[in-house]
Amino acid sequence: MQNDIQEVLITREQIQQKVEELGQQLSKEYEGRNPLVICILKGAFIFMSDLVKEITVPIELDFMAVSSYGASTRSSGEVKIIKDLDSSVEGRDVLIVEDIIDSGLTLSYLVDVLERRKVNSVKIVTLFDKPARRTVDLQADLSGFVLPDAFVVGYGLDYAEKYRNLPYIGVLKPEIYTT
Ligand code: PRP
Ligand code: MN
Ligand code: MG
Repeated sequence: MQNDIQEVLITREQIQQKVEELGQQLSKEYEGRNPLVICILKGAFIFMSDLVKEITVPIELDFMAVSSYGASTRSSGEVKIIKDLDSSVEGRDVLIVEDIIDSGLTLSYLVDVLERRKVNSVKIVTLFDKPARRTVDLQADLSGFVLPDAFVVGYGLDYAEKYRNLPYIGVLKPEIYTT
């Protein structure tokens, strides 16, 4: 698995430090409130589990699985809800936890879905962001690292469902996805 990585972009220590900072900021942001924290599966599962340990206000968790990429390196542009939330979001302060924002399609679709379900507020925290790749006008409220336009994997991010368990962010060797 390590042999398929061209370069480590962000180390596990850098990620850990950033996740702590984000957790502290969110704890301040939601002081006195009880947000519903939603993990967007599958990519966000590692970030979610590390992040919530750094949040000091009472929270509830839920999970939603959506997919737009499949086994391709490019978004299909079509977002599918594979698993919906268990809980009602009406009147709730919702925090969406994402691993990465690329075109922005996944989150613009999700924010729309949540607003139609009458949330009180919705905010987005993403660990990684590729602003150069946006095709829709969508910004995170809080983001960890800006990434270059390279195909990266690890810390939850996959290529064809592989590499999610790498503890760092690495650039995939082009021969892996161009054959
Ligand atoms: C990836 C990633 C984000 C989304 C970002 O998910 O985890 O959810 O794409 O891309 P976008 O901004 O262009 O919509 P993917 O659809 O690959 O599903 P996964 O999380 O199960 O890997
Ligand atoms: Mn995802
Ligand atoms: Mg994916």
